[in-house]
Amino acid sequence: MIGRRAFLRTLGACAGLGAGVGYYTFRIEPEWLEIVTRPLPIRGLPQALAGKTLAHLSDLHISPLVSDEYLIQTFRRVAEAQPEIVVITGDLMSWHRGWRDHVAAVCQHVPRGRLATIATLGNHDYGPAWSDPRVAARLVDVVRSCGITVLRNEMFDADGLQIVGLDDLWSKHFAPQGVLGTLDRSRGAIALSHNPDTVDLPVWGDYQGWILAGHTHGGQCKPPFLPPPVLPVRNRRYTAGEFQLAGNRQMYISRGVGHSLPVRFNARPEATLFTLS
Ligand SMILES: [Fe+2]
Repeated sequence: MIGRRAFLRTLGACAGLGAGVGYYTFRIEPEWLEIVTRPLPIRGLPQALAGKTLAHLSDLHISPLVSDEYLIQTFRRVAEAQPEIVVITGDLMSWHRGWRDHVAAVCQHVPRGRLATIATLGNHDYGPAWSDPRVAARLVDVVRSCGITVLRNEMFDADGLQIVGLDDLWSKHFAPQGVLGTLDRSRGAIALSHNPDTVDLPVWGDYQGWILAGHTHGGQCKPPFLPPPVLPVRNRRYTAGEFQLAGNRQMYISRGVGHSLPVRFNARPEATLFTLS
């Protein structure tokens, strides 16, 4: 039989381990950024962009739940890479009182790409129920007044590279057909789409190439070797990282910079530095 003293020691160790994991999950990992570096091969990439950096940020969730210092420090680290292009794939904020001034203040620090700094919208950018287009319209005004281009089912030509920015799925503003139809197939293109489930919709026509996404936060809390128990996507394969898709398309899902709830375990926040080729 286990002695009383041994039992208390084991109990103490378990409690200590639990407290340690809790501290790590709530206080350490949510703002322990990983800078991920990867190649991004694009068919038809303009020669002048070969070897240049495209920085991908997602899910900033500017709000009282994500510290401004952490976001600004993240922006500084990304700016050090001197990116040619910066893209932000949605969930710029979580709605909160005073969000306009707050977003305006933080957005001043967003790293600028030499050629382009582009944002698209996510579900949280549409207000508390993800359904208020007036919130999104005001947010777009705020972000644009910071000098950031916001694409809503539109295309931006970055020295020959076509960057398609799609609007959000859950807010029911995802409408890619028009802009995808305008692409010049002989030139390179990438697409930005907040919600990974959009890649499974029959709307992509003959678009080929990369789709950069966010939304999942990598599951936020992921048991080792197991899928995350909570994942806000229909296709539960879409956790984080690279996916080969039908139709000669590829997707990269960023784990995102911020969070909607201040917990992360085994899904560190991410800023991605792609080298274009
Ligand atoms: Fe998000």
